[in-house]
Amino acid sequence: MAELVIEGLTKRFGNVTAVDNVSLHVKDGEFVTLLGPSGCGKSTTLAAVAGLDRADGGRIQVGETVYFDAARGTYLPPEARSCGLVFQSYALWPHMTVADNVAFPLTLRKVTTADRKRRVSEVLDLVEMGSYAARFPHELSGGQQQRVALARTLVYHPAILLLDEPLSNLDAKLRDRARAWLAELRTRLHLTTIYVTHDQIEALSLSDRIVVMNGGHIAQIGTPQEIYERPADPFVADFIGTTNFLPARVRLGAAVGGLAQLELSDGQRLDVRVERPAPEGSSVTIAFRPEQMRAAPEAPAGEAGSIVATRVTSRSYVGGHWQVGLDIGGTPLRLETPQAPPGDDLQIWLPQTGGIVFPGAANVAA
Ligand SMILES: Nc1ncnc2c1ncn2[C@@H]1O[C@H](COP(=O)(O)OP(=O)(O)OP(=O)(O)O)[C@@H](O)[C@H]1O
Ligand SMILES: [Mg+2]
Repeated sequence: MAELVIEGLTKRFGNVTAVDNVSLHVKDGEFVTLLGPSGCGKSTTLAAVAGLDRADGGRIQVGETVYFDAARGTYLPPEARSCGLVFQSYALWPHMTVADNVAFPLTLRKVTTADRKRRVSEVLDLVEMGSYAARFPHELSGGQQQRVALARTLVYHPAILLLDEPLSNLDAKLRDRARAWLAELRTRLHLTTIYVTHDQIEALSLSDRIVVMNGGHIAQIGTPQEIYERPADPFVADFIGTTNFLPARVRLGAAVGGLAQLELSDGQRLDVRVERPAPEGSSVTIAFRPEQMRAAPEAPAGEAGSIVATRVTSRSYVGGHWQVGLDIGGTPLRLETPQAPPGDDLQIWLPQTGGIVFPGAANVAA
């Protein structure tokens, strides 16, 4: 159990700066997820913490132990760090049974046979694989192999757990189960954990905090709710969940907390409460989540909003509800609705509070 402090971490590969001055404090027992597009530096950050790769700058400390300090020339080799690392490819030894796989790190650490037996059996029970101890990896499902890989890491009581896309090899159903299981294990063990995933549902449901990375930088750190409901910029809004972006101009400006009147590219107007100053005449981008928007007849009673005319471009039944593609003055939008819209035109309701107005034009793909 330990706190992890990363300060000013920088790692270059040739002229690529994979991790650029990243600072992150993970509290004792906290579960933090790194989320971001491919190549944004997630694995490089984990590798630097585990010591698999020597960083170029910064400092890494776990509890009282300094793992890395570029300024002082401190660099602990991986075996001197107390990190439990699980990768996407869990790489169990094929010729060893489940029990032997899990016992292996203890053998390396010269733990006595009796102690080893006890700890292997304890940790296999923890991951609910006790009855599979005598099996070989090829006799297990992907999810079961994943749990053995995790057990092999947990067995030596690491100070921190580093998980790099551990569930990505599993099919959707198995992954769902593994996620629920991981959530439960997490509450039981209370281990300081950095988790890397591409899966937003995993990130939102498992994490105490999420770190959204972009091009080696941290774009935002926050609780899942903060990241989802108050994204710091259009990149974060676009990366987490589905977001509709509408370019607009401020017709009537407003200070923080005030009501601004915006004009969309086709001249339609809407009122939106702003969390950032919206000076009159400035260009802005307004972001709405699909679940915040409604077809006009389904507008929530008693909640202030604006009605906007749109054109329907597609409708798909996705189980339980419809996903409807819309167009406003050339900008595509996505709406979730219980009923398929009957015609080619649809009036939609946009809430006054809850949409986010970002300054400037958002540079995000539609
Ligand atoms: N050994 C290496 N040599 C050269 N460049 C590397 C090396 N490892 C990583 N990189 C580069 O560093 C950047 C960050 O890579 P990293 O593996 O950390 O990304 P990631 O966020 O884990 O991506 P993914 O989601 O695809 O796993 C990328 O541009 C990558 O090409
Ligand atoms: Mg990676």
